[in-house]
Amino acid sequence: MKRSSSSVFVALFSALLVVFAYATTSTAPAPKPAGKGYDCEAAKKSLKPCMEYLTGGIVAVPPKECCAGVEKVKSSASTKNERHAACKCLKEAVNHIPNFNETRATSLPTLCHLRIGFNISKTVDCSK
Ligand SMILES: *[C@@H]1O[C@H](CO)[C@@H](O)[C@H](O)[C@H]1NC(C)=O
Ligand SMILES: *[C@@H]1O[C@H](CO)[C@@H](O)[C@H](O)[C@H]1NC(C)=O
Repeated sequence: MKRSSSSVFVALFSALLVVFAYATTSTAPAPKPAGKGYDCEAAKKSLKPCMEYLTGGIVAVPPKECCAGVEKVKSSASTKNERHAACKCLKEAVNHIPNFNETRATSLPTLCHLRIGFNISKTVDCSK
């Protein structure tokens, strides 16, 4: 008697587990596909060490922390859509920087020996 009641319990319990597992997986939000939604905040943060250079400070060449940031932006924007998103994000960001030097910004990737596929600029056409 004891054996059969415990096996009924086990059967019931596993049935409940299955129901529970089904319920949790079906109501959980689908995981976001990788690459959806460009992380603009991360891109802006990466370029923080470039600010003094970009605003015409006495640093005449971008510091290596800045180039490391440009490299991060480059690797975060490997597809066309990501490049467009990164371009728009940084265009918007630099429009809020007082004393932003366009000449320095557009030459920044070159000075870091990197090609990011778009200009960091207030007036760049991001659809290109
Ligand atoms: C921008 O930077 C360049 C190169 O350092 C400099 O020659 C130019 O005078 C700067 N432009 C402005 C508006 O400060
Ligand atoms: C990027 O900047 C360079 C130099 O100012 C300019 O010749 C080029 O047309 C710009 N590219 C875009 C996509 O705006």
